[in-house]
Amino acid sequence: MHDKILILDFGSQVTQLIARRIRESHVYSEIHPYDVDEAFIREFAPKGIILSGGPNSVTEAGSPRAPQIVFDLGVPVLGICYGMQTMADQLGGKVELGKLREFGYAEVRAHNHTGFLNDIEDFKDDSGHGMLKVWMSHGDKVADMPAGFRLMASTPSCPIAAMADDERRFYGLQWHPEVTHTVQGRAMLDRFVLELCGATPDWEMGHYIDEAVEKIRAQVGDEHVILGLSGGVDSSVAAALLHRAIGDQLTCVFVDHGLLRQKEAEQVMTTFADHLGVKVIHVDASTVFLSKLAGVTDPEAKRKIIGAEFVEVFQAEANKLKDAKWLAQGTIYPDVIESAGKGKKGAHTIKSHHNVGGLPETLNLKLLEPLRELFKDEVRELGVKLGLPPAMVYRHPFPGPGLGVRILGEVKREFADLLRRADAIFIETLRTTIDKETGKSWYDLTSQAFAVFLPVKSVGVMGDGRTYEYVVALRAVQTLDFMTAHWAHLPHELLGHVSNRIINEVRGVNRVVYDISGKPPATIEWE
Ligand code: XMP
Repeated sequence: MHDKILILDFGSQVTQLIARRIRESHVYSEIHPYDVDEAFIREFAPKGIILSGGPNSVTEAGSPRAPQIVFDLGVPVLGICYGMQTMADQLGGKVELGKLREFGYAEVRAHNHTGFLNDIEDFKDDSGHGMLKVWMSHGDKVADMPAGFRLMASTPSCPIAAMADDERRFYGLQWHPEVTHTVQGRAMLDRFVLELCGATPDWEMGHYIDEAVEKIRAQVGDEHVILGLSGGVDSSVAAALLHRAIGDQLTCVFVDHGLLRQKEAEQVMTTFADHLGVKVIHVDASTVFLSKLAGVTDPEAKRKIIGAEFVEVFQAEANKLKDAKWLAQGTIYPDVIESAGKGKKGAHTIKSHHNVGGLPETLNLKLLEPLRELFKDEVRELGVKLGLPPAMVYRHPFPGPGLGVRILGEVKREFADLLRRADAIFIETLRTTIDKETGKSWYDLTSQAFAVFLPVKSVGVMGDGRTYEYVVALRAVQTLDFMTAHWAHLPHELLGHVSNRIINEVRGVNRVVYDISGKPPATIEWE
């Protein structure tokens, strides 16, 4: 049993970061909605509790509150932003309504040498006080602290920017220690989790393999499992972990929809079937997929067709495996949190981001999700520990509908072939071009990069002749969360080299352009 930190989510956009930061310090943490019941919290037996930020105002009637047991369990409690305000309100302090809500950089002055902030500082001000550079959420303010609390930090515009009750080990911060802009954020969370809660930092992927293997064996017994392998990180790591646990009781089905990247199918088969000895059924369904997509130009319609056809093909293969009792999926922790919903508010979707998963219940299989507890960076670490090639595990994300959403308009095999070649040239160049300043490849310096096929013809000249051929767009972005993204400032020489190679080597293309739109207002993919 690991020591656990419980995070109660009041709906902040950055709640996930709290859990990630704590896990990076090797302590296990989970996020649950703020209104979970008392029995759950007792059973969870946290070493400490964190109340997240959130969009509401404590001053509104009916706004969310933490269950009373949070303050009665006798464990340390940290309230962040809204979490601090509800803590103040619930324990007898006073919160004042603010006029504007704004997220921003602030310098706060530490007070009173509390157990939480003692020795944590960025610099000293002219009169020798410890100062911290933080990311503050301005808005409502704590006006009166509850009995037992002392002032822990302040700014001119927010006199009670943090408060501490060292006796009960209750702490409130008006700023966000979980975002990297708060320079000492890690030190603050480590102080809370490791020192004040006394949690043992024993959450490590190397040890986790043994635990997970044991759990999977106990769950599955001698029954058989099937898994849809897409070549993406999550399903690959799930396959490797299950194979480690149950060997030949696992059968993977790899559906090739004809919209994969160059040599991708070969790579999947080599890695899993040849190197790891996993049973993989390779279904080349490209002809069926492409015939269903013929004449379809609407992006959402294309996604739906690819998703539905994937289910169809997978189901046909699954039906042939009579022994299978389990369906394994590479669901990871962010998927679990997102589908549970944030606080009480629904999340906003711009595009239907369903992966080609969502397999129907008619399969009559029990669901096995061995990565359900893990964040993406943990999944990657686990993948490498399980022997998957780092280049596969640290690959840029690739959408389930594949090149289907990177060929604008109607999808045709000739367009897919052309795009695969252009894309491979771009990716290879990114991998081999090293940035002098950082010593990293441009592939590692970007979060996602790919080529897009535009079904537009433009005029060019080649030798003595006029050409009239297609356009390829290059897209490369830098982002932490894929919700917002900047276009990557790739070196001009790199772009020039890629453009020359694509135009010279890929028949049918005479023009290459670079996409310089950010997200928002553009999205990362073009469809
Ligand atoms: P956008 O284009 O919305 O993409 O900025 C954000 C991230 O999501 C990926 N994406 C998808 N992934 N199925 C997927 O599995 C989809 O239909 C899909 N659409 C976008 C995109 O590649 C980027 O990483």
